[in-house]
Amino acid sequence: MNMLAKSFDAVATAPVISLRGVRKKFGGHLVVDNLSFNVGRGEIVTLLGRTGAGKTTVLNIIMGTMRADAGAVSVAGADPYGEFKSLKGKLAVAFQTDRLLPWRTAVENAELGLLILGIDRKIARAKAIECLASVNLAGSEHKRPHELSGGMRQRVSLARALAVDPELILLDESFSQLDHVTSRSLRADFCKVARQFGKTCLIVTHRIDDALEMADRVIVLGPGARIMLEMPLAEARLNEQTREQCRAQIETALGGHNEDDNN
Ligand SMILES: Nc1ncnc2c1ncn2[C@@H]1O[C@H](COP(=O)(O)OP(=O)(O)O)[C@@H](O)[C@H]1O
Ligand SMILES: [Mg+2]
Repeated sequence: MNMLAKSFDAVATAPVISLRGVRKKFGGHLVVDNLSFNVGRGEIVTLLGRTGAGKTTVLNIIMGTMRADAGAVSVAGADPYGEFKSLKGKLAVAFQTDRLLPWRTAVENAELGLLILGIDRKIARAKAIECLASVNLAGSEHKRPHELSGGMRQRVSLARALAVDPELILLDESFSQLDHVTSRSLRADFCKVARQFGKTCLIVTHRIDDALEMADRVIVLGPGARIMLEMPLAEARLNEQTREQCRAQIETALGGHNEDDNN
């Protein structure tokens, strides 16, 4: 194998996210205590934990909006904090609330990331329309956020994340404010698109169903973002009996049932 092929191979198999011994303290409070995990290319991983476990802090460190006190962080081959600009266009994020601009229509919101990246207006518009259709919003392109239901607004926000064709998609409690029926159909549609395009996804949530219905693998975090359990879930998505066994294991790792606290 020549040198070029070798380095190409290394890039193809390198994890998209790698955390090694990450720590973060706020005042005297150790919020992330020695956390290490990888997310491979095309993998959908859920970080599951109760409120206060440190999930959003971990996500901020991965996005490069917060610096870890110690440890090594690599995202798409770069240090997200030190080389923040190199991640431009490679990473998209959707949050618990849709964060849409109320004066822009669905399609104008969905194309926003592309326009910020300097993509030609016509190309951006076509891509945004395609992404809205992929999350089942064809026909609602020209509605403003106040004319859409909560579930539909969250679909626009996911279309906006997908539109930039990022290497990595991060979701922070994106399904948590929706009722169970709405969030189930949104989870299914999002995963279908993410898998179709081989997107790497890290989904942060406190809801066990988010993990069981979407993830290839779950990492359960306890206080201090300590890993309580890590297990594959591909089988659980297909087989109901396995799913219920996994649910029981996850509930034990979380220390009891917590589906309905607020985030
Ligand atoms: N900027 C900050 N300054 C001080 N404490 C913070 C800050 N951000 C989060 N925390 C604290 O860190 C802990 C974990 O918060 P967070 O990462 O938001 O957890 P989760 O997303 O799992 O609910 C909480 O106790 C929270 O109060
Ligand atoms: Mg959070």
